[in-house]
Amino acid sequence: MADAVQTPQPTFPPRIFSGIQPSGGLTLGNYLGALKRFVEKQEEGIETIYCMVDMHAITVWQDPEKLRQQTREGAAAFIAAGIDPARSILFNQSQVTAHVELGWIFNCIARMGWMSRMTQFKDKAGKNSENVSLGLFAYPSLMAADILSYKATHVPVGDDQKQHLELCRDIAIKFNNDYKVDFFPVVEPVIEGAATRVMSLRDGTKKMSKSDPSDQSRINLTDDADTISKKIRKAKTDPEPLPDSLDALKDRPEARNLVNIYAALAGHTPEQVIRDYAGAQFGTFKPALADLAVAKLEPITLEMNRLMQDQAEIDRILGAGADRAEAIARPIVDQVYDIVGMIRSRRR
Ligand code: TYM
Repeated sequence: MADAVQTPQPTFPPRIFSGIQPSGGLTLGNYLGALKRFVEKQEEGIETIYCMVDMHAITVWQDPEKLRQQTREGAAAFIAAGIDPARSILFNQSQVTAHVELGWIFNCIARMGWMSRMTQFKDKAGKNSENVSLGLFAYPSLMAADILSYKATHVPVGDDQKQHLELCRDIAIKFNNDYKVDFFPVVEPVIEGAATRVMSLRDGTKKMSKSDPSDQSRINLTDDADTISKKIRKAKTDPEPLPDSLDALKDRPEARNLVNIYAALAGHTPEQVIRDYAGAQFGTFKPALADLAVAKLEPITLEMNRLMQDQAEIDRILGAGADRAEAIARPIVDQVYDIVGMIRSRRR
């Protein structure tokens, strides 16, 4: 084969973006799969932009007052977990209109077929797909716009967002090809650590989720020490002691989940945890896990509660973050209008 002429891929400076929906209280899954890792990225010194995605939340019904409170509570959770609003940009999505503007353009890039293959849409719509909002269908396209409004290169998320990020890559590639530009980076999902998929405490085959009807299935970031402890002690397990290898946990999803949670909270690998607890009964392991969870989560809950006493301050932080986000996103989205062929002749 003749030497192909390689078009060098432009390099984009590393920039992290990620978001969390304020569609309910945050769970241990959100903390271990997302928040805790967002803090690690901030500490690595990379530019980090984090967002409460309120526009995504309204793709399913949200009570307006609860939505506002949950957005503030989510922001408080970010800060309580260690996000420093001076070093990271922290804001709520609806305050930066670049997202929905680019989202519309991406609705015209993404294909119906791509969207219909999204498993989260299929799960959420279920048998009711005729009756869900159009926004729920277009959800991943707005998510791509969130990321690409900043030309973010890396997106830390839990495992359940992998398919959405693949779609974000497809949108970036199609946009670049259609308009013959090297404008958008093809983002890298960052799905790493022991807890990329924290499972329900009642059913080890189901993801821990804020929308599960059973409160016993999850640990909420607002749970007090006693509640956390009780939920872990009552978590579903099997009668066997912990084995001495992870392989032996293959068909024991509940046990595997608790080992993963322990590892993520302790900052160890699951291998280390299984080495330390080989042969232990759950009567020993669960109280150890409960103590660890309380030690790690209680300070965050207390700090969240403290921050929520001053809601005006949270709103101020979100507003200041939105100003900084806008300063990055506006010129990028303005360039997109030019690329697409829109006249921009207003005097601003
Ligand atoms: P959301 O709000 O469902 O969840 C926020 C983050 O928490 C992770 N997560 C979990 N990780 C491990 N185990 C679990 N049980 C668990 N539950 C949730 C999610 O993977 C996610 O990282 N579509 C996104 C929000 C979004 C977004 C974005 C993310 C909108 N725009 C742009 C990244 C970039 C969502 O619904 O996340």
